[in-house]
Formats: sequence, C-alpha cells, structure tokens
Amino acid sequence: MFDLNKLVRDNVKALKPYSCARDEYHGGDGIFLDANENPYGALNRYPDPYQKELKASVSMIKGVPEDMIFLGNGSDEIIDLCFRIFCKPGADKALTFTPSYGMYEVSASANDVNIIKIPLDKNFQVNFDDVIPWLSDVTLKLILICSPNNPTGNCIDRHVLEQIIVNFDGIVLVDEAYIDFADKPSLLDRITSFRNLIVMQTFSKAFGLASVRVGMAFTSPDIIHYFNKMKPPYNISTINQKAVLQKLGKINEYKIQVRKIKEERERLTAALYKLPFTKQVFPSDANFLLVKVKDAGFIYNTLVDRGIIVRNRSSVIDNCLRITVGTKTEDNELIKALKTIEI
Ligand SMILES: Cc1ncc(COP(=O)(O)O)c(C=O)c1O
Repeated sequence: MFDLNKLVRDNVKALKPYSCARDEYHGGDGIFLDANENPYGALNRYPDPYQKELKASVSMIKGVPEDMIFLGNGSDEIIDLCFRIFCKPGADKALTFTPSYGMYEVSASANDVNIIKIPLDKNFQVNFDDVIPWLSDVTLKLILICSPNNPTGNCIDRHVLEQIIVNFDGIVLVDEAYIDFADKPSLLDRITSFRNLIVMQTFSKAFGLASVRVGMAFTSPDIIHYFNKMKPPYNISTINQKAVLQKLGKINEYKIQVRKIKEERERLTAALYKLPFTKQVFPSDANFLLVKVKDAGFIYNTLVDRGIIVRNRSSVIDNCLRITVGTKTEDNELIKALKTIEI
C-alpha cells in the first residue's frame, strides 16, 4: 500500500525548512526592514516564495486547486527534488524507459541513485510485463515516464500508465512537457484519484517561455508540502513570475501558436516523406518530429554547414534526426536545404 510517510527520506521528514522574512510576515503593505534588502530600486525586493498570484492564475487555467500546484525553476528542478525527497543516495533505485529525456538519468547520477532503464517496444510504448518484476522491489522509489515522450514524440498508452500507477507503492512522475501538442488527454484529471502520481508540465514549450524557467508539478497537497520544504526559498524570480503571469493573460496567443505548430507539424511530415532518403517520420504528439533517414550523420552535418541545426539522435535510435517544428519560413528553409542533399 502507498504510504507517503514511509516513502519520504528520514532526513527530509526531520528537516526544518529555512524560514525567510516573507514566511514570517505575509502582509503586502508596510515599511519593509525585515529582509536586509536595499531600499532603493524596482527589483530590490525578494520574490514571493510561494508564487501565490501566479499559482492562482495557473489554478484557473489548469482547473487544479492551488494547494495541488508546485512551481519549480524549470521542470528540471522538480525532477531533482523528486530524487532528493524520495531516493536515498547509494541505496534506493529509480526506473525509467529508453530512449527518453536525458535529465532523468543525469539527475539520478547527481543524486547517486541507481536508475533502471527499460527499453520501449518497437512502437515506443511501455510493455507493462517488463515493469512488473520491479514493482515489488522495496528499494525502487520513483518511476519517471515521459508522455509524450522525448525524443520519440508519442504518448504512452494511458491504460499502461494507470496500470503502473495502481500497482506501484512508490512515486510515479509523468512528465507531460509536450502534452499541449497532443490530441490525447493529460493525466491531470487523475491526481486526486492516485496519491502517488505527480503530473509535471512546463511553460518552456507550448507557452514559449523556455528562457523563463518555470515548470509545474500537480499532485497531492501532502507531496506539495515536501516540495516546498526542500526547495530553495526564492526558487522563481519576480521577473520570471511576472513573465508567466503576462503570458497567462494572453491565453489566446498560446492557443493560436499551438494550433499553428500542430498544422506545421503535419505539413513538415508530408514534406519530409517526399525526400528520397526519408525512411520513416514517426507519428508525433509533440512539437518535434523523429525522422529515420538513410545517413543521419551526413544530413546533420550538411544542414549545420547551411546554418540549420537539428538534433542527431542516432546514438539512441539508429539513423534518426529529431527536428523541432519551426515557423513556416524556418521549415521552408529546412525543406529547401534537404532537397539539395543527395545520398
Ligand atoms: C520531456 C522533457 N521534460 C522536461 C524538459 C525541460 O523542461 P524545463 O524547461 O521546464 O526544465 C524537457 C526539455 O527539453 C523535456 O524534453
């Protein structure tokens, strides 16, 4: 049975979090002489440590109560916090699937946590039977699943995701960085049913704020409590909180951009299929395409010579390029350059 209290590391449970000036006094008005700030300037005050205004806005847009939202300095901070809260260095394990987002493994290594990597099947899906033997391992504390998956672009079958969540007593982190581009539903509607589920999303992709570094975790208030305990007090700057708030005020712009990127994804897929060296364009629920070609290294280098940078993923999937969907003009340039390549 899932028991959060047993799962959280003892040092995290015992930890007394840093109490900052803004934790002790919550009012908005007054003469603030409590945080050793410089009294002059426009950016002289520390940010709201719990990003209340921003969370209220995220709550409205996502339909999730504020006490079930954590905001991190990018999703990468949330991934790292999961390791630090739930996995004992040198003793516990995490599990993920390959190929997938590289930060899971990097974060595991940084935290000295052994990570089990299960290969996805030929359709880039998770085979539940491969996971079953690990579910009873008491040292396995965290399963990380990327859906839609980077770099393959597909959503993982929802039924399999739920099978894993239901049959595992540890934490399941479902990384939905690209979910806005998918026609399949998010798992957000399941966070109240599954107490071991953390759904992670980001402002870096569909919201076009990669430089701002704000990631979102949606989960039970009990897990949010530990995220808040472990995070640095001011993990999101005032400027960055405002940038996201501004963007959320223009939700139509976001919707138009997502629609355009999805349309462009289809156009680019068709254009890539017309090239003689394209073997397969994998179906994508994300804002990128994984493309199997005749000689990925040669195509990659030729494109770089012409000032067009894609990602060569051949080290993880044979002869595959990962191409981000750009603007119509950018994609036209890409197609024009590709048409001149002879292999
Ligand atoms: C699957 C996945 N998750 C998370 C991230 C990083 O998100 P953030 O910018 O919020 O740290 C990326 C970035 O490429 C990604 O591909």
